[in-house]
Amino acid sequence: MKATQLLKGQHREAERLFDLALSTTGDVRGATDELTKHLLAHMLAEQVVLFPELLAIEPDLIGGACEEHTVTRFEIRRVVGTAPEDPSFKARLATLRELVTRHAEEEERDLLPRIEAELTEDTNERLGRQMLELFEALVAHSRRHHASSHAPLRTARAA
Ligand SMILES: [Fe+2]
Ligand SMILES: [Fe+2]
Repeated sequence: MKATQLLKGQHREAERLFDLALSTTGDVRGATDELTKHLLAHMLAEQVVLFPELLAIEPDLIGGACEEHTVTRFEIRRVVGTAPEDPSFKARLATLRELVTRHAEEEERDLLPRIEAELTEDTNERLGRQMLELFEALVAHSRRHHASSHAPLRTARAA
């Protein structure tokens, strides 16, 4: 899959996960964890695989995107550190959504067309493969980490 298609698909998936996290009446924490894992893995894959290629096209192209990733990580930490019952939770999640939506729109408007225009089809495909591989490894890692960090709690509660 081409990098450009992969990223658009992951942006749409982020929107779906935001909808779910903001609307669910069930496991809000679980839905939010899925969302934040997705966002973190997506951003890191962009930074490690894609942005260096874009840097080679035009040095100033990714400065804004990198800053926005930093702000997004900060907002993710605020959401993760807030209990779903907290009155601020929904407002923080909604703020994160606005940030991510605007950022994704800018990437699709400013960055993805440059990839299509200036990288070969083969490079676009290769970057897509590399990003998907890294994205999946990061999500799997965070699931394992999440499971193991919660295991002692469950045991303690069960005892
Ligand atoms: Fe991004
Ligand atoms: Fe993105």
